[in-house]
Amino acid sequence: MRTAGRLAASVLEMIGEHVEPGVTTEDLDRICHDFIVNQLDCVPAPLNYTFGRDQPPFPKSICTSVNHVVCHGIPSPKKVLKRGDVMNLDVTVIKDGFHGDTSKMFFVGKPSVLAKRLVDITQECLYEGIRQIRPGAHVGDIGHAIQSLAHANRFSVVREFGGHGIGRRFHDEPQILHYGQPGNGARLEPGMTFTIEPMINAGRRHVKLLPDQWTVVTKDHKLSAQWEHTLLVTEDGAEVLTRRAEEPF
Ligand code: MF3
Ligand code: CO
Ligand code: CO
Repeated sequence: MRTAGRLAASVLEMIGEHVEPGVTTEDLDRICHDFIVNQLDCVPAPLNYTFGRDQPPFPKSICTSVNHVVCHGIPSPKKVLKRGDVMNLDVTVIKDGFHGDTSKMFFVGKPSVLAKRLVDITQECLYEGIRQIRPGAHVGDIGHAIQSLAHANRFSVVREFGGHGIGRRFHDEPQILHYGQPGNGARLEPGMTFTIEPMINAGRRHVKLLPDQWTVVTKDHKLSAQWEHTLLVTEDGAEVLTRRAEEPF
């Protein structure tokens, strides 16, 4: 899991310089796909993935969610990035059967004051969630910390999607909700691995699914942001398996 996490993080470190006005999200998908397969010798987990139901398999290797897209945006040659856009790029790699799952927000040119504030607070929500992790803590502690910070800033928390246990499976138990009450839900134990990946909206929390059966957007078309790490519960806290060099911890 440490190896998978480190390799997933390296994709986000690699792609930054390619995110600029005029590139398409499909260009970014191709660059990431080739890097994951050829440089990292990994499998891109999203490609052909399905949550089941009557959902078509995901057709690309990464998710690119721009502006009011909440998550699971499908890279497309029609989606040309322009100045002022904000984008979440979500990477999941499989190395020797183990998954590493992480995402970050990118600015295309200079963001609006609101977009910058939403993106920064959402990253702080992830970090506040991570600070709750220790043996004996509950998943509700994580959700409550995230919800409290988001609401204090008059933003809303998406409820339809959460973090997840991860390991040999991409999406496993427990579910990590980004809202909740302290002391509620599953208890954390050393050795558990899961993601925290808050989706925070500038407007209302409600979302809708586009007809492609993947792309999730805000109902009010206001901005949404998301950051994600894969975490390991240690004897005295958390290890961030998908940490990037730019991060403070
Ligand atoms: N990486 C996403 C997550 O954080 C899941 C994407 S599923 C896909 O859980 F099929 F859209 F890739
Ligand atoms: Co995830
Ligand atoms: Co992810």
